[in-house]
Amino acid sequence: MKIGIIGTGAVGKTLATKLAERGYPVLVANSRGPAAVADSLGASIADVIPSSTSEVLGCDIVILSVPWTKVPDVLSSGGPKDGRILVDATNIFLTYPPNARLDDLKGDSGSEIVARLAPEARVVKAFNTLPIAAMFAPLPKGTKRVLFVAGDDASAVAPVAALIADLGLHPVTLVSLPHAGRQMELGGPLSALELLTPAEEAA
Ligand SMILES: NC(=O)c1ccc[n+]([C@@H]2O[C@H](COP(=O)([O-])OP(=O)(O)OC[C@H]3O[C@@H](n4cnc5c(N)ncnc54)[C@H](OP(=O)(O)O)[C@@H]3O)[C@@H](O)[C@H]2O)c1
Repeated sequence: MKIGIIGTGAVGKTLATKLAERGYPVLVANSRGPAAVADSLGASIADVIPSSTSEVLGCDIVILSVPWTKVPDVLSSGGPKDGRILVDATNIFLTYPPNARLDDLKGDSGSEIVARLAPEARVVKAFNTLPIAAMFAPLPKGTKRVLFVAGDDASAVAPVAALIADLGLHPVTLVSLPHAGRQMELGGPLSALELLTPAEEAA
């Protein structure tokens, strides 16, 4: 199963490193082409394949980790096709902290907007509820960190939950983009909520 990642910021780099370490073939793109991806990733991520955005969009699971304001650009070709899985890791910042401004979606939600921009993809929301450093920060012995994952299609959520588990996190699967996706969005009750669970229970 090929994993594609769009974005070489903190999220893209971290997930690329960790997924490659676990043996997944990982293709990564940014806005400037494969040579710039290789520069951004550095030699430490030797197993990752620097790629174009269109190559990444052909992967089985595509993780969208770009600024919210760039999402329409990135998905201007209609996003992944043929029911491929698009994991929306974005948050609806117009500008980042410390001068954070959020987009006013007027009752809409980020992932539903992503889903409309990528109508042939099965969209799953994940990796957005915690800062990436906190997501993989050291844990008290015998615990796992919960990561929420939500979507409308259980057969798309399941492989993303499996990836999350492979990354050492405890996936908690929620149903639907309109409902759970909103709860996971900035300002929602699951955004920035850090939960730990006993590792045996998680298993
Ligand atoms: N940072 C966190 O802790 C965190 C945690 C959870 C969720 N998030 C969310 O995850 C997303 C990514 O955050 P981030 O902090 O990793 O990085 P970011 O600064 O939001 O995104 C930077 C990356 O997006 C790429 N990009 C921008 N426009 C593009 C385009 N048109 N085509 C392809 N790539 C494009 C940039 O490529 P270039 O380098 O070529 O410009 C760069 O690699 C954001 O929506 C953020 O809100 C962040």
